[in-house]
Parts: sequence; structure tokens; C-alpha cells
Amino acid sequence: MQSELEQKAENGKDETSKPPLGGDLPDPIKIPDQSWSGCPFRRSPYRSQTEDEIEGLNYNDYLGLDKLLTSQHPQSEICGKEAPDELLFIITHQVFELWFKMVIRDLDNVLHIFAGDVVPNVEMMAAVRKLQRIIKIMAVVVQQFDILETMTALDFLEFRPLLGTSSGFQSLQFRLIEIKLGLQDDDRVGYGNKPYSAALKKDQQVISKKASESLNLFMALEGWLERCPFLHIEYNEDKEEQVYDFWESYEKAVEFWMEEERTKISASTASEQLKEKRIKEHVDGTLTIFKNILDHETYEKNRKMGRVKFTHKAFKAAMMILLYRNQPIFQMPFQFLESVMEVDARLVSWRHRHALMVQRMIGVKMGTGGSSGFHYLACTATRHRVFRDLFGMSSYMIPKHCIPTLPNVIHQRTDFRSEDSEFWM
Ligand code: HEM
Repeated sequence: MQSELEQKAENGKDETSKPPLGGDLPDPIKIPDQSWSGCPFRRSPYRSQTEDEIEGLNYNDYLGLDKLLTSQHPQSEICGKEAPDELLFIITHQVFELWFKMVIRDLDNVLHIFAGDVVPNVEMMAAVRKLQRIIKIMAVVVQQFDILETMTALDFLEFRPLLGTSSGFQSLQFRLIEIKLGLQDDDRVGYGNKPYSAALKKDQQVISKKASESLNLFMALEGWLERCPFLHIEYNEDKEEQVYDFWESYEKAVEFWMEEERTKISASTASEQLKEKRIKEHVDGTLTIFKNILDHETYEKNRKMGRVKFTHKAFKAAMMILLYRNQPIFQMPFQFLESVMEVDARLVSWRHRHALMVQRMIGVKMGTGGSSGFHYLACTATRHRVFRDLFGMSSYMIPKHCIPTLPNVIHQRTDFRSEDSEFWM
């Protein structure tokens, strides 16, 4: 007796027998093999004839396991010296490099989405998801240092001299991640008066140079923020021309907040001297900090000195997203900014964790790549930051009750459902 599914498939009318995402289905629809939902290497009922020709594809061949599993060549074995932990050392590095490969692929995808003049709203979700995956990968790779640390400093010393001058410093993929995120050469910690690229092989230098001349995530984000269409809007309400300027309204909100604080301190029961001190420290002090971003000239001066990186316009747009994150049109951009910050934070965690492990393994000895070792790595953890501006924005947050309500017309334009909804350009 035929099952219900088989009968439907025979009639060729049943939509539920198709795979959920469609694609090119062979015609007529074949009866699904119910067991297919298990192992991905089992034969799919939807395979075309061409796919049937690769029927013989085998797990080992598909994954290239012959090559992968014979790519560990402990120097200690080659030299006939016993150092059992060298295999762990090699495998750990290789696993890291495989994950780096995936991170680069995802970063490239994000950059591709941002490469054009327009970032379609629907693509933002895809970009956020790619960054979220990078975050998860980084979380997993950091944990792998725990496994490597089952090897002690003494165990490591058994084969360390056999490593010669090879070092993680020569990892092209790690450099590509840094470059694609937007780390600039000038911001790098110095290393023996040579550029980092000098440690790479000649063909790898070409690849890293090409990457550093291409779009990176910092540039992509900055350009996209600058195109935010909500910073300054001129609109016609009841035939009267009106202007909405986000920065002006933000500036007023800061003044309002500080006035509120001043009044609170003045109304307190503290002595006049103490009140004066508090106003000076809290109100005047806060206003001085805010001047860094409110005053265009001061902002530009700080930018020249490398204290901030985003252009002022990009900075303002990021601020608007952070303050109005609940407006439908800002929800995805907000998640994007959060994800970018998280990627930056995960890389810092990687650097800290790696540096700590290095200290445990070699103390203050020099690295095999010629750096000061732990000291150099600890410096990179603090200095090799790309999206510091986003982290710094919390200095300029104002209490929720001070955030200006958006004028009705802007409120509508930042709502998905409105006919007037603006789209990011
Ligand atoms: C016993 C384990 C390890 C030790 C003692 C160690 C040591 C070092 C040292 C001293 C440096 C600085 C450059 C130099 O002078 O050589 C370095 C850099 C580096 N290592 Fe490791 N490492 C270890 C494990 C790993 C692992 C598992 C990875 C994963 C891929 C890795 C990736 C890197 C990278 C990417 C750099 C460059 C960092 C930068 O320049 O910011 N290392 N390592």
C-alpha cells in the first residue's frame, strides 16, 4: 500500500514534498527517501542526473582527509627526538588556521554587501549574521588555548629549538583578518624596525598588499554611516518648511541634561563650597568632555591626533543609531554596530589569551619570530583596536529621559510601515 506522501508525489501536486528552499528540482519529482534527513552524505532524493554521476563521492575524498591527516610533520619525529606534545602544537595551529579561513570568508561576504553605493535593507540581516558567526568562531578558538595549555613549558621546551624562526607572526591569514577589519600599518606595534609584512613570504606579501589596498570593514562602515539619510531632513509640514537636525537636537539635549544636574546640585543641602565643587567637577567636567564631539573643530583636531577615527558625520550617524535603536529602521543597523564591536572585542580576547599562554610557555624569552615575545603581544592587545570609536561612544550617552522625541514626520520616516519610509542610500 502506498503511503500518503508517495501518493501525493505520484500525483505530482504536492508542494510539501519539495525541499523548503526550492532550487532546481528534477522532473518528475522523485519520491523522497525518508532516511535522507539523517547523515548529509547520504544520497539526496532530489539529485539531478549529473549529481548521480558523482555517486561514488566518498567522505574521505570530499573532505580531502588523506591530505589533511598527513599534513602534520613534527620536527621532533623528523629529527628523531622524542617530543610527544609537538603533534598537539601543530594540530592546534592548523585548527586555528582553518577557522581563520572561515572568518576571512565571512568578512569578505560582509565587505561584498557593503561594496556598492547602496546597502539594501534586506542585506543588513545577512551582514549581521556573518558577523555573528565570526563572533562564535572567535569564542571557540579562544577556548582552544585551554587544550594547548595541557602542554607544560617544560614539554614545549623539548621541541621549541626545532621550530627555527617559524612563528605565528608569519600567519598570512591572521594578517588578512586584521587588514580586512581595517587595522592600519601606522597603528601597529613596532617590530624590529621592519614592517610586519617583511615576515611574510614574497607571494604572501603581494596578497597582503592587495588586501590593504581594498575595502576594509572600517571604511565600509564609515562610508555607510556617512550616507545615513536621517541626520538632516528638510520637510514640509502644513506647508511650512521645517528642518530636523539630529545633531542640533542632541546638543540641546546635552544642555538640558546638564542644566538638570546643575539644578539638582544647587537644590541639595550641601554647603555652597561643596556645591560649587560638584558643579565644577560634574557639570563643567562633563561639558568639557562633550565638547570633544559637539565642537566640530575640536573633533577634527582630535581626529588628526588619532584620538578618534570616524569622520564627524559618521560619528554622528552612529550616535543617532545608538540613541534611537528602537526605531524600526535603526534596529538592524544597531545590531550591526553591536556585532562589529563584539568582533573587535573577541579579537582583543584572542590577543590577551594568546599573550597569557605565551607568558606561561616562555616567560620573558624572545619569540621565535624575533619579537620581545609576551611584551610585544600584550602591547598588540591594547593597541591593535580598529573600532575603538564605537566603544568610546558610551562616554557621550545621555539619560533616556533626555533623549529628544523625534518629530512626528521623522518618526514616521524611520518606521518600516510608513509610506514615506526612508531607505539608506
Ligand atoms: C606554545 C604556544 C605558542 C607560543 C609560545 C607562541 C608564541 C608567540 C610569540 C612569542 C609571538 C610573537 C612573535 C614572535 O616573536 O614569534 C607569537 C605571535 C603570534 N602567534 Fe603565537 N604562540 C603560540 C601558539 C599560537 C597558536 C596556537 C596560534 C594560532 C594560530 C598562534 C598564532 C600567533 C599569531 C597570529 C601571532 C602574531 C600576533 C601579532 O603579531 O599580533 N600562536 N606567538
